Amino acid sequence: RDHGTVLDDVRRGMTPAHIYNDREIFDLERERLFSRAWMFVGHESEVPEPGDYVVRRVLEDSFIVARGNDGDVRVMFNMCLHRGMQVCRAEMGNATHFRCPYHGWSYRNDGRIVGLPFHQEAYGGEAGFRRRGQALLPAPSLDTYNGLIFISLDPDAPPLRDYLGDFTFYLDYYTKQSASGIELRGPQRWRVKANWKIGAENFAGDMYHTPQTHASVVEIGLFREPKAEKRKDGCTYWAGRGGGTTYKLPPGTLDERLRYVGYPDAMIERMKTTWSAEQLAVIGDNGFMISAASVFPNLSFVHNWPKIEDSEDVLPFISIRQWQPISEDETEVLSWFAVDKEAPEEFKALSYKAYLMCFGSTGMFEQDDVENWVSLTTTAAGSMARRLLLNNRMGLHSDDSPVVPPLTPGEFAGPGVARVGYGEYNQRSLLSDWADHLERPAVRRTPVEVGTPA
Ligand code: FES
Ligand code: FE
Repeated sequence: RDHGTVLDDVRRGMTPAHIYNDREIFDLERERLFSRAWMFVGHESEVPEPGDYVVRRVLEDSFIVARGNDGDVRVMFNMCLHRGMQVCRAEMGNATHFRCPYHGWSYRNDGRIVGLPFHQEAYGGEAGFRRRGQALLPAPSLDTYNGLIFISLDPDAPPLRDYLGDFTFYLDYYTKQSASGIELRGPQRWRVKANWKIGAENFAGDMYHTPQTHASVVEIGLFREPKAEKRKDGCTYWAGRGGGTTYKLPPGTLDERLRYVGYPDAMIERMKTTWSAEQLAVIGDNGFMISAASVFPNLSFVHNWPKIEDSEDVLPFISIRQWQPISEDETEVLSWFAVDKEAPEEFKALSYKAYLMCFGSTGMFEQDDVENWVSLTTTAAGSMARRLLLNNRMGLHSDDSPVVPPLTPGEFAGPGVARVGYGEYNQRSLLSDWADHLERPAVRRTPVEVGTPA
């Protein structure tokens, strides 16, 4: 079957099973999707001081995310302008310069070449190799939101805010609980033999798997209430370039509801001065607490509040995670712990424990989820999977008739479309965005010559 048919099937909510393990599809994703979409590469709090850097990838492309001595954050292609060696081989650190291990060219932390051994003897000086003005290739597009750093390999990418659209409303819950924003710890990194799309879809909208996949977590009493049953009362929302799930909270005021998930009063006061009236109304008036979410294509967020340390109290945590594709059947998971910079130190420490217990590399939810995803990916490679169109239409009676009508503005104060109960609305939104990208032409790349006279 040709790609056009596959993409049409995806758009009508029938997902060809082989898209979760198919080399040709992955090549298309590389050429048309990852060459264009805004990709998360880190948070400003990971490089707080001049000279701080982290190294991150977009598929095979390695980038140095560095704060220069001038205080600006830059994202530079980690490939030496001489013979192409990786200039920076450490994963994170602090440096005024990067020196290439191969022949010793060196670069300032803003990317400019400063050292070129035997420039005169080997090239005849500037006449033979123009050193002035040469720098590591910058990421074609760079933009930030609440300190989250994104790049696009497309020099003509739309502004990040246009790309994210109304999803920024929901991003603030995870990344701006006070005026100071968040700080990150990590990331923990590990590889799973699973296709990258599965995690993104799951975090975007799969409330349906919780009672089954995570049954044991509930059985051992990690949560204060039988959460699995509660899931169907939550809503899923989709706005702009992303969507997520929520839990329905018991009746109460805004303060009571934020306290219910474990926030101390000082943090609640800051949320009340940081979030908009509508952002507060989703929690306080509508009673929905933000849970997991995904931004197209491969960035996800979690907010959860387990019990910790034999206490009856719950403690909330936030995790940011990225499903970084290695191939059609392997994904590197990057998992960061995120916390409000202004949170009390004791809260930060306990919240970190809650994160590790649930969604760190050995986290209980993590283990449950990945078992499914690996198994699914393995089976998707075979020839029978090419005959199977998976029904991705939960929540629909027919094409234009949903089982549950969208919440009205009075019921849900956030932007986008929100619906209570189980449905694969967000998975369909994510995959139809995916299909649209796979039909666009590849991004044109303009070659850059190194060292020739201007
Ligand atoms: Fe970097 Fe030669 S490859 S100095
Ligand atoms: Fe899960």
